Amino acid sequence: MQIQDLKIEHFFARHEFVTPYVMCASDTEALTLAEALTLADAETRQLWDNLSLGYTETWGHPLLREAIAAQYSGLGPENILVFTGAQDAIFCVMNGMLNAGDHVVVAAPCWQPLYEVPRAVGADLSIVRMDVGEGFGFVVDRIASAVRDGTRMIIVNAPNNPTGALPTHAEFDQLRKLAEDSGAILVSDEIYRLLEHDPASRLPAAAEISGSAVSIGVMSKVYGLPGARLGWLASRDTHLLERAAGMKHYTTICAAAPSEILALIALRNAETVLDRARAITRKNLDLLDEFFARHADLVHWQRPHAGTVAFPRFRLNGSTASFVDDVRQKAGVLLLPGDVFDEPGGHIRIGYGRRDLPEALARLDDYLIGHQDTGGQPR
Ligand SMILES: Cc1ncc(COP(=O)(O)O)c(C=O)c1O
Repeated sequence: MQIQDLKIEHFFARHEFVTPYVMCASDTEALTLAEALTLADAETRQLWDNLSLGYTETWGHPLLREAIAAQYSGLGPENILVFTGAQDAIFCVMNGMLNAGDHVVVAAPCWQPLYEVPRAVGADLSIVRMDVGEGFGFVVDRIASAVRDGTRMIIVNAPNNPTGALPTHAEFDQLRKLAEDSGAILVSDEIYRLLEHDPASRLPAAAEISGSAVSIGVMSKVYGLPGARLGWLASRDTHLLERAAGMKHYTTICAAAPSEILALIALRNAETVLDRARAITRKNLDLLDEFFARHADLVHWQRPHAGTVAFPRFRLNGSTASFVDDVRQKAGVLLLPGDVFDEPGGHIRIGYGRRDLPEALARLDDYLIGHQDTGGQPR
């Protein structure tokens, strides 16, 4: 298989674990093992204490599938297929459902594997770019005009990484209808769902509103367990799940036994874990509003609608990559250049799901103030 480099992971592999402040991560503050275990009830504590480190079931632990299904209205455990992270789920559903030459429409910018895996399968790709600046959002008309007879898949990532944008309820329903009318599978990467800053903007899961759609979910972001590497597909399309399960036999076979139980514990306490993530992101977002208001001459701040990431645009003299590099070296703060999302021109992804954001922001503030005085980068 020929597949392009996953740019973001090459960037993180170089810098994530050696830069003091990672201000561009998309997860929320990870729970410690001890924190997770304090949430266990009698049954899950027993499952943890007596856990066999054997292989697990291909479709996932029955109790875990039940707990995941409980996050969706109208779905049952039979609609859930567990994976090792959302990444494995994306790889398996694309490989299971696409053939070379199939036409696929993807709304970008988005998580690169959502178009790179179809491309590697040999799909005929229409990448439809959404606005990332003023009035950023989803332009459904643009997606609709890319759909044609025989389009096999329409792929969207909302809440969006990197912009934090959400379609409106009406736009999301238009997407559902577009997919159903054209006979395409709606693949909805919704891993930042449930972290909407205005709860009224929360969309239904695609799998809840359409029998031919598939929702991608994961424990990594809103539930604070990225190291568990535990994700899933949710769909009422049994054939799709079976095809993806067939692919999974070739990737990971089954999820890790400890991760399944940790995910079960977190999901049985979903509201507690989600409230924790909401409190962190709400507080950080207030700080970002204040920070970007002070630096309005230098940065165009587009407040995200949901999730853990945002995509402000810096007015720079040089390239985005060289600015990011300078901030990393001089301030010890890691930012992510928009180039990895094919959006150069000053766009930078920041993450606001971690507790050390205030310290990172203070360092970035010092850097920006210092460089305004010298007239160097940025500007
Ligand atoms: C939109 C989106 N989908 C999928 C993934 C992959 O998630 P995981 O690394 O937990 O498998 C990411 C990771 O950042 C993402 O942002």
